[in-house]
Amino acid sequence: MSDSFRSWMKATQADFELTLERLLPSAVTVPERLHQAMRYAALDGGKRVRPLLVYAAGRLFDAPAELLARAAAALEMIHAYSLVHDDMPCMDDDALRRGKPTVHVQYDEATALLVGDALQAQAFVVLAGGDEENTDNAARGLAMVRLLAHAAGSVGMCGGQAIDLASVGVALTQDQLEQMHRLKTGALLRASVLMGAMAGKTLTTAEVAALDVYAGAIGLAFQVVDDVLDATADSATLGKTAGKDAADNKPTYVSILGLDASRQLAEKLCSDAHAALLPFGEKAQQLHDLADLIVQRKA
Ligand code: IPE
Ligand code: IPE
Ligand code: MG
Ligand code: MG
Ligand code: MG
Repeated sequence: MSDSFRSWMKATQADFELTLERLLPSAVTVPERLHQAMRYAALDGGKRVRPLLVYAAGRLFDAPAELLARAAAALEMIHAYSLVHDDMPCMDDDALRRGKPTVHVQYDEATALLVGDALQAQAFVVLAGGDEENTDNAARGLAMVRLLAHAAGSVGMCGGQAIDLASVGVALTQDQLEQMHRLKTGALLRASVLMGAMAGKTLTTAEVAALDVYAGAIGLAFQVVDDVLDATADSATLGKTAGKDAADNKPTYVSILGLDASRQLAEKLCSDAHAALLPFGEKAQQLHDLADLIVQRKA
């Protein structure tokens, strides 16, 4: 990873924080407590990998900044909602997220439920609320709504979460585990890449196919690394409770393949992702470096 990638990443993360701040309801809007809790869940934390993917993919086709900002914010809102619900007692029952008490601990369970619901709705408000005068942008916005709804729903993230919960204590095959990971984590990462790219132009079948190979590889790699870090890193570094998967008897890449083979798989997926970017040339450098970041991250 180059210095220029690192400085682009820092600047984009800082800029994105302001975007998200602007596109969330203010903390003084009634009902204040719900809006404060939504902001608590979404602002000031997280690596912002999905927004970074949106911006990096947008660069391939010189996508307009405002459309990218809305796509990035919508994705991060869906992601933040998924984390709030994932941490609730009825799911993973976690008390720490992004270095802070989880929403149901800081507020209460009903508020956490509503924070997730409302963040999901706000994501679509943001995505659909563009410049209606510009028919190109309006059509792209609608295509993005469709893609994001699909990625978040029962054949995407929610479906993956359902399989995850049904798999506690179950000996999954590697294929079943892969399918679970591709849905619960891969679907939103894929949506990030495709939404960033389609903010720039209507994609050809060949472009979608190449981006799909990249996105599929990083999407799976992301959760393989999440499983490895759960087993190897400490809670202070992760900002969430380490060792939780084994404690909860969850099937993971580490439990099925072991640590070494999991790390090797992540490296292989990273090379596959890099290879898929070749048709896009130099404009894909940030996507290339993001694949490295996803596999080499420590938290
Ligand atoms: C954690 O996602 C949950 C998974 C989908 C594995 P991230 O690792 O992207 O969490 P933040 O956004 O950086 O907190
Ligand atoms: C959660 O996976 C994925 C989603 C929130 C959709 P995990 O349960 O492994 O995520 P962490 O480890 O709690 O962040
Ligand atoms: Mg979970
Ligand atoms: Mg969890
Ligand atoms: Mg995890």
